[in-house]
Amino acid sequence: CGIVGYVGRRSAVDVVLDGLRRLEYRGYDSAGIALVSADGRIEVDKRAGKLANLEAALADHPLPESTCGIGHTRWATHGVPSDRNAHPHRSADGRVSLIHNGIIENFGQLRAELEADGIEFLSDTDTEVAAHLLGREYGADGDLTAAMARVCRRLEGAFTLLAVAADDPDTVVGARRNSPLVVGLGEGEYFLGSDVAAFIAYTTEAIELGQDQIVTINRDGVAVSGFDGAPSEGKPFSVDWDIAAAEKGGFDTFMAKEIHEQPQAVADTLRGRIDEQGQIVLDEVRMSDQDFRDIDKVFIVACGTSYHAGLVTKYAIEHWTRIPCEVELASEFRYRDPVLDRSTLVVAISQSGETMDTLMAVRHAKDQKARVLSISNTVGSTIPRESDAVLYTRAGIEVAVASTKAFLTQLAACYLVGLHLAQVRGIKYADEVSAILDELVAAPGKIAKVIENLDPVREMARECAASGERVLFIGRHVGYPVALEGALKLKELAYLHAEGFAAGELKHGPISLIEAGTPVVAIVPSPRGRSLLHDKIISNIQEVKARGAKVIAVCEEGDKITAVHADFVIETPASPTLLAPLLTAVPLQEFAAELATALGRDIDQPRNLAKSVTVE
Ligand code: G6P
Repeated sequence: CGIVGYVGRRSAVDVVLDGLRRLEYRGYDSAGIALVSADGRIEVDKRAGKLANLEAALADHPLPESTCGIGHTRWATHGVPSDRNAHPHRSADGRVSLIHNGIIENFGQLRAELEADGIEFLSDTDTEVAAHLLGREYGADGDLTAAMARVCRRLEGAFTLLAVAADDPDTVVGARRNSPLVVGLGEGEYFLGSDVAAFIAYTTEAIELGQDQIVTINRDGVAVSGFDGAPSEGKPFSVDWDIAAAEKGGFDTFMAKEIHEQPQAVADTLRGRIDEQGQIVLDEVRMSDQDFRDIDKVFIVACGTSYHAGLVTKYAIEHWTRIPCEVELASEFRYRDPVLDRSTLVVAISQSGETMDTLMAVRHAKDQKARVLSISNTVGSTIPRESDAVLYTRAGIEVAVASTKAFLTQLAACYLVGLHLAQVRGIKYADEVSAILDELVAAPGKIAKVIENLDPVREMARECAASGERVLFIGRHVGYPVALEGALKLKELAYLHAEGFAAGELKHGPISLIEAGTPVVAIVPSPRGRSLLHDKIISNIQEVKARGAKVIAVCEEGDKITAVHADFVIETPASPTLLAPLLTAVPLQEFAAELATALGRDIDQPRNLAKSVTVE
């Protein structure tokens, strides 16, 4: 969910709606707003569906002027998306209004307690218990901050809460446990947001809050305290995201814009990370070189697209460092009791830095004394803060729910981490490492070339849309995770059945899916060097062709052999095998976007999804 709070001199409805627009990628099942008027009333409007529904309602029935308010855009967990279940929720006496991101795990017990007290619930959400508890506590002493602290001490689970009170038209109180909340510092105006996108139109100065902290903003400033009521402090930081990044800038969709931003995003991620001696520089390192040398096993944990970046990284890390590397879905990691100790490095990859599954995997790793290195796109987010070392991707804000530029920058950052490990441990492949660094630096130019030549991909995608068939993706080596990512993009955007397979595995079962005309996208490795791999995938292409598949091959330019066997060829510039995903993933992004567009889908906000999922 996306959360915004504002106190200042501007019209709160404008600031809050503007923030919600920029946070809508965090959920779009419903949206709502609560404003406190100067004469001490709380005015609420909330609507099922996208933010546009709320905006239309507010245009028809404007709320009274206010300079203090909160807003929410929801990704449903408890209770279907409806007007009733939309946030804000209010206390029984109507004196406080509250929004929530996360899951209150003990809500059943709290609801029973409140119902026994005669409180009538108006929604099916877990959130409403917090609203009623807060109303009760606020009624006791009229101190919203203290009341919030008392409520938080009773809640279990993950939550960010923001609340306003009718009698306090100048204050918003926020609280966080395991869910994101950052503070924006303006002049005589203050902002709260799930992430900085909520307020970068107004300020780039921010404070990150720690675990179990309460923040109170009013026109005079910001006060931070713990759930125990003791004064505390957040950590100031400056936002380097550009507001232009949060606009479509002439493109039809954010996704199209973000695909085009990839060369720059990768170049930015590499910039300044390789020092004059050719050594890799991380952003924050609370580990010594000796710690890195002691590592004897690497686990990569991540979700969704970030997991696919992790799968590519395994090939690179094992090849460059000879350290065994496993990749695991973060949501599975801690529940299977993985073998971890001080000499294990856990690499957590998370664009948002807030994904709950990944955060919990990180905490589990730390409990077991493993070292954690995170790769994230979001300064001030929780996962980097809780890690021993951090490398930030510099993709800038990514708005489209389906990840593109964040993925490519994750790959670039992962390569840097692999090379860093190789360097601190003594370089076995010194020549190879410096050659790879040169190739990495050349990658943005090649990505740009791929992007210039996407017309044939679009044409192919429109053809596939017309047939409405499922699409299979096959690859070997690092082409396998690229196949998985290509299939994920298509599922996310087009709502089509799409699956990625290791090309060699197809004959062991999935080949039965192939019928006459089934599109199969094959990620073909370079015919140079590892030609064994190339030969093998050519065999796999022939196997599916023999069963009627229509083969679309993504291959290196000038690969004549593939051109003979495939029905359709998409060429990418030559690249070392390990780095090829930086290029081969790009046409698959465009393929999915164009196919989904042809089917009339919502490209930036596909159904049922959210960009940052802060529940487990
Ligand atoms: C959500 C998004 C995916 C993303 C995944 C992991 O499910 O819809 O696009 O890959 O979360 O996000 P993270 O921020 O941890 O990289």
